[in-house]
Amino acid sequence: MRFKGKNAIVTGASGGIGSAVARYFAGEGANLCLVDRRAVAEIAKEVRAQGGNVVEQVIDVTDSAAVRCMVDAAIAGLGRVDILVNVAGVSSHGPAESVTEAEWDRVLASNLKSVFLCCQAVIAPMRSQHYGRIVNIGSILGKNGGNPRPWIDRNEQTRAGNLAYGASKAGVHAMTLYLAKELAVDGITVNVVAPGPIASAMTVNFPETLRALIPMGRMGQATDVAEAVAFLASDAAAFITGEILDVNGGMWVD
Ligand SMILES: NC(=O)c1ccc[n+]([C@@H]2O[C@H](COP(=O)([O-])OP(=O)(O)OC[C@H]3O[C@@H](n4cnc5c(N)ncnc54)[C@H](O)[C@@H]3O)[C@@H](O)[C@H]2O)c1
Repeated sequence: MRFKGKNAIVTGASGGIGSAVARYFAGEGANLCLVDRRAVAEIAKEVRAQGGNVVEQVIDVTDSAAVRCMVDAAIAGLGRVDILVNVAGVSSHGPAESVTEAEWDRVLASNLKSVFLCCQAVIAPMRSQHYGRIVNIGSILGKNGGNPRPWIDRNEQTRAGNLAYGASKAGVHAMTLYLAKELAVDGITVNVVAPGPIASAMTVNFPETLRALIPMGRMGQATDVAEAVAFLASDAAAFITGEILDVNGGMWVD
C-alpha cells in the first residue's frame, strides 16, 4: 500500500495505459482524480471497488480553463494533490509528407500543450505543500527518430508513428527536464516513462515487421508501464528527478 493516503490525478484514465495506472495506484491505496475526454465511469467504478475515493473529470486537457477547474475539483474532492500522471495523448501515423498543418496542430496540442497545462496547474498547490510527484508519458518515438525504413518498405510507415507524434513526445521529454530543475527546490520531482510499443487501442495496427524488432519478442503490456510510473511516483524514487525511464523491451537502448 505504498500510496495509502496519497491523492493522484491521472489523465487519459479511460485508455489502455491510463486505466492500468489508475488500477495499479488504487491497488496501492491511492485516491484518484480520473480525467479523460471520454467517460471515466467504468474505471471509476473499479477504483471505488478497490476502496479509493474518486473524482471524475470528463474534460479536454488541451483546454486551459478546463484543466484549472479539474485541478480545483481534485483538491476540493480529495483534499490535496500529491501526484500527477499525464497519460492522455493521441497517435498519428504515416510519412512526413502526409502530415497536414491541422494534424500537426492536433498532435502537438493533444500530446505536448496538454502536458504543459496540467503540469503548470499543479505547480502552485504542490509548491505550497512542498511535495509533488509528476510523471509524464513520453515515447521511444521521441528519442529514436521513429521507425521509418523506406529503404526496406515505404508502406510500413503508413501504420507507424509519424514525425508530429515524435516531435510532441520529444517536447514532453525536454519539458520534463526543465521542470525537474525548476521544481526540485520545492520538493517536486518530474520524470518521464518512455514506452516502446504497448498493446493498446493505439497499436492495434502496429506492423508485425516492426514488432519483430523488439528484442524481448513481445509488445509491452499497459501494466509494464504502470509499474514504472508507480516507482517514479513513489517515495522510493525521492531522489530521482529529470529521468527518462525507457520501458521498451530493449527496442531502443541509450
Ligand atoms: N500504446 C503505445 O504503444 C504507446 C507507446 C508510447 C507512448 N504511448 C503514450 O501513452 C499514452 C496512452 O496511450 P494508450 O496506448 O493508453 O492510448 P489510448 O488511446 O488507449 O488512451 C489515450 C487516452 O487519452 C485520452 N485523450 C486523448 N486526448 C485527450 C484530450 N485532449 N483530453 C482528454 N483526454 C484525452 C483518450 O480519450 C484515451 O482514453 C499516450 O500519451 C501515448 O502517446 C503509448
